[in-house]
Amino acid sequence: MEYIKSKDIFLLVRDTLKIVYPRLMKHGSRVAYMVYTMLREEGKYEEFELADMVMVATLHDIGAYKTERERLNDILKYETKECMAHSIYGYLFFKYLSPVPELAKVIMYHHMDYEQLQKQNYEYKELAAYINIAEKMDHYSTALGDKFEVGMFQKYAGTKLSDDGLFLFYKCEDKYGMFEKIRSGEYLKELDDIIEYMIYNNEDKKKFLDMMMYCQGFFRSEMVVETATAVCVCEEIAKEMMLPLQKREILYYGTLVHDIGMLAIPRELIESPRKLEPKEVKRLRTHVEIASKILSSRMKKEVVDIVVAHHERCDGSGYPRKLKDSQMSTEQKILQVADVVVALLNPRSYRKSLPKEKVIAILDEKTERSRLKRQVVVVVVNSFDKIMSRVKEEAAQILKMYELLNKQYELISQKYNI
Ligand SMILES: [Fe+2]
Ligand SMILES: [Fe+2]
Ligand SMILES: [Fe+2]
Repeated sequence: MEYIKSKDIFLLVRDTLKIVYPRLMKHGSRVAYMVYTMLREEGKYEEFELADMVMVATLHDIGAYKTERERLNDILKYETKECMAHSIYGYLFFKYLSPVPELAKVIMYHHMDYEQLQKQNYEYKELAAYINIAEKMDHYSTALGDKFEVGMFQKYAGTKLSDDGLFLFYKCEDKYGMFEKIRSGEYLKELDDIIEYMIYNNEDKKKFLDMMMYCQGFFRSEMVVETATAVCVCEEIAKEMMLPLQKREILYYGTLVHDIGMLAIPRELIESPRKLEPKEVKRLRTHVEIASKILSSRMKKEVVDIVVAHHERCDGSGYPRKLKDSQMSTEQKILQVADVVVALLNPRSYRKSLPKEKVIAILDEKTERSRLKRQVVVVVVNSFDKIMSRVKEEAAQILKMYELLNKQYELISQKYNI
C-alpha cells in the first residue's frame, strides 16, 4: 500500500523545511525552476532524472539549516561569504541520509568557482555549475529589482561561472522568459509537472522522512532522539499487541511526523523553564493543526488521523477535538501512550528525565483517570525493559550519525581550509 506518493514525499520535505525558513525554500524552488529549464533545453536527461535534479536543486541550501540557524535571515551573507559550511553539510546530508547519494556532490560544489569545478572528476558537475549560476541570478535579481541585468555576470564567464552554462541561461531566458514566469508565479506549475515524474520506493521514502527528521534535529537536537524514541516505543507496543503489518506501517509514518508542527513554534516557548501563560499554551497546541495542514493533502488519511490525535486523551480531556475512547483507533491510542512515555523519559527545561519507577507510576495514574488506554499501558509496563533497551540502541545510532556528520564535516573543512 502506498501511504504517500513519491512527489508528495518531496513536497512534504520541502514544505516542512519551508515552515522553518520560508525564504530559503522559495529561493530553492526558483533556482530549481531555472536549472530545470536549462537542463530540459539541453535535452540530455529523461524526465525521471530531471525530477531528481529538481529535487536536489530545490534543497541545494539544506545545509544552511545546520550552519545558519542564527543568521538565516541574511541569505546573501552565507551564500557569498561563508558558503563552504552549508555546502559541506548539505553534501553530508545527501550522502548519508538521502536516497540519492550520487547527487550529493552537486551540493558540495554548488558555490565552487567554475575553474576549480572543471578539475573535479564528477559526473554531475554541470548540474552544480548550473545551480551556481541560477542561484546568483536569483539572489541578485531579488536584491536589485529593476536594477538587475541578466548580463551582469558575463564578466565571470569561464572563471567563476560556467561559460556554457551562462550561454544556456541567456538562451533559456530569451526563449522562455524565466524571470517573468517567476514574477507571475507561473513557474510553480512547470515545477509541479516535472515533480510528477519522481519515483521513490518505500525505502527511499523512509530515508527522506529520516532526512527531514535529522534536519529538524538541527533546531532542537532532542527532537530527533524523541521522535526516534517514539517510533521505537510505538513499534514495540504494536508488535506486542500483534497489530497487522499494515496498521504498523501507518503507525510508523504517523509517529515519524507527529510533531512536525513544532517547527513552527518558537524555541523559547518549547524550552521555557517557567509555567506557560494560557495564551502561550494555546500557541503551543497549534502544532497539531499546523501538522494537519501540512500533511492532509500529502499523506493517507489514516496516517494524518494518528498525527492529529496524539494529544487526545481517552476521557475526552485532550486536544484539539476532545475525542473520547470510543472515537479513536488503537493506533491513535498507542501513539498517545508512547508520546507520554517519551516525554517522561526525556529531560525538560523544568525537570530531569524520570526513572523507570516514576514513569510507570505516572502511567498508572493516568490510566486510573482513564486518560490513557489501559491495554496499551499494560503492554508498556510489562515490556518496559525490552522497549527501553531498543530505545537506547536507537538513540545511540542517531547520536552516532550526528557524530559521523560532524566528524566528516571537520575533515572536509580542513581540506577546504575553512
Ligand atoms: Fe548555497
Ligand atoms: Fe542558494
Ligand atoms: Fe505534540
